[in-house]
Amino acid sequence: MSARVIAVVNQKGGAGKSTLAMLLAGALAEGGAGVLVADADPQGTALRWATAGGGFPARVEDLSDAEGKLHKQLRKRLEDYDYIVIDSPPHASAPVTESALRLAHLALVPVIPSPPDLWASLRIRDAIEHARGRNPDLVARIVVNQAQLNTLLAQEVLAMLPQFGIPLLAAQLKSRTAYRQAAALGGTISALGHRAAIASLEVAALAREVEELLA
Ligand SMILES: Nc1ncnc2c1ncn2[C@@H]1O[C@H](COP(=O)(O)OP(=O)(O)OP(=O)(O)O)[C@@H](O)[C@H]1O
Ligand SMILES: [Mg+2]
Repeated sequence: MSARVIAVVNQKGGAGKSTLAMLLAGALAEGGAGVLVADADPQGTALRWATAGGGFPARVEDLSDAEGKLHKQLRKRLEDYDYIVIDSPPHASAPVTESALRLAHLALVPVIPSPPDLWASLRIRDAIEHARGRNPDLVARIVVNQAQLNTLLAQEVLAMLPQFGIPLLAAQLKSRTAYRQAAALGGTISALGHRAAIASLEVAALAREVEELLA
C-alpha cells in the first residue's frame, strides 16, 4: 500500500505544527503503522524531539534542505510507509510548503484559538486553495490547539473558525503540560503513562479521526 501523506502547515509560528506532527506520528506508529516524519523545517524540532529520549516509534528524518523538491523526494518513499507526516516551517508561501501540499492527501492546520493567531493563519488557506490546482483531492482540516477549557473568549473565537473556510477536525488538543513533557522526554504521549491519561485519550481520538479521513 502507498503511504498516506499528512502535511502539518501554518503560516503562524508556534501554532503547534511540530507538536501535532509528533503526537500524531507517535500515536499512528504505536497503533502498528509504519510512519516517517519528514522534518522539513530547518529548526529541526521534530528531529530534536525524536532524539531527545531514544525509542521514538516513528522514523524521523531531516529533509530541511529538500525545499521545493520535497514532494519528489518523498514520492520515492511512498511504498515504504503507511503514513508520511511532514512537519513544515512557518511559511505559507515557501517552496517547501507548496511542495508538501502538492504531495499531501491531508493538510492539518493547527490554530490557537486567539484572534491574532487566526488572522496570521489566513494565508495558509490561500496556499491550500492554490495547491488544489495541482492536487485537487487535497483534504484540509483545522486542528484547534492549546484550547482553554470553557472560557467565553475561547467559545467566541471558536465561533469565528468556520469563516476560515477550512472545516474543523472534531478532535482538539487542549493546552497541557503533558505535550511539552513528551517533547522534553523525546517520546510519545502514551509513554508518559498514567500522568498523561487524558492527553493520551485526546491524541488517540485525533489519530483515529485522521485514520478515518484517510481510509
Ligand atoms: N497543546 C499544547 N499544550 C501545551 N503546549 C503546547 C501545545 N502545543 C504546542 N505547545 C508548545 O508551544 C510551543 C510551540 O509549539 P510547536 O513548536 O509545536 O509550534 P510550531 O508551530 O511547530 O512552531 P514553529 O513555527 O516555530 O515551527 C512549544 O513550546 C510547544 O511545546
Ligand atoms: Mg515547528
